[in-house]
Amino acid sequence: MNSQTLVPTQKEIVQQTIEKTPKSIKEIADETKIFEPNIRRILGIGAKEGVFERIDKGVYILSRKGDDIAYIHTADAVETLPKLAEQGIKIDMVFLDPPYTTPAVKGGNRPQRYDVISPEEFGKVMGAISRLIKNDDTPVYYIASKAPSGLKEMARYTQQIFNAGFKIVAQGEYTKLQKDKINLATNPQGKSITPEVLILFTKSGEFIEKEIPRNLTFRLVRPAIAGKEGYPTQKPAEMLESIIKQGTLPGNMLLDPFAGSGIAPAKAIELKRRVIAIEKSLDAVERFIKPRIKEALNPIKTQMVFGFTSV
Ligand SMILES: C[S@@+](CC[C@H](N)C(=O)[O-])C[C@H]1O[C@@H](n2cnc3c(N)ncnc32)[C@H](O)[C@@H]1O
Repeated sequence: MNSQTLVPTQKEIVQQTIEKTPKSIKEIADETKIFEPNIRRILGIGAKEGVFERIDKGVYILSRKGDDIAYIHTADAVETLPKLAEQGIKIDMVFLDPPYTTPAVKGGNRPQRYDVISPEEFGKVMGAISRLIKNDDTPVYYIASKAPSGLKEMARYTQQIFNAGFKIVAQGEYTKLQKDKINLATNPQGKSITPEVLILFTKSGEFIEKEIPRNLTFRLVRPAIAGKEGYPTQKPAEMLESIIKQGTLPGNMLLDPFAGSGIAPAKAIELKRRVIAIEKSLDAVERFIKPRIKEALNPIKTQMVFGFTSV
């Protein structure tokens, strides 16, 4: 019994349940209302390989060779991050692409809408991230708009990162190109889109790149942002691959609190890192994040044969 609270732990509940009669995992789950994967963990019976297992409401876990490699929280990051910090979880890199609101976002340039957070809520996110990072050199990559109409509002979000005690190490730009890889991508009004700024922060203001040299400037074709394959504000896979290799080593844990299309979590898994992804939209989790991570775990080899794709 947990002496401080006198509330039995899940482990104690499971042990009491099987003390007199042996039971199946399902029977224990029915009796205790504890999720089956958690029971398997308590009893030291490994998680199922390669399938997402629900371990709590909206929380899924994926394992590879007995290791938990991906956690997905269908949840509000503002509420979830402090809970993760309380659990003592430690993170090796954070990718922050926040759902900020600026006049351009409010103005309706985007084909689909998603929930946004206020600068104050972003302040809570940063407070929790401060507790979650492994050390003062843990990199936090932050992507933000430089659209002139939103600079004032954007600065209120960026200020929260400084308030949490982080310093800028380096910065660059993500320039969105059309499919011809030459012309700048345009908004629905036909105007060229201003590049976004990509900033690397650490608490110490210092950082040594891990697998490849530093580069925070990218000119890349903008991924589809609508339709079956597209997600609003989806970032290019090449950019994520590069910053994950700069920021982490294999086995390290990436945190993406606003995972959207799941491109960062999927790249992390493909590059043999681990990931905690949080996303409020159930639709994004089910339609984009989970399938992308699974695909990254077991890439289907595709081969071009005379113009057809053979799987
Ligand atoms: C800028 S998009 C991230 C795009 C993502 N980086 C990508 O490349 O696809 C922000 C995401 O945050 C999600 N979101 C909004 N409010 C949230 C919250 N409170 N907690 C977690 N996710 C939230 C939105 O649904 C949206 O998918």
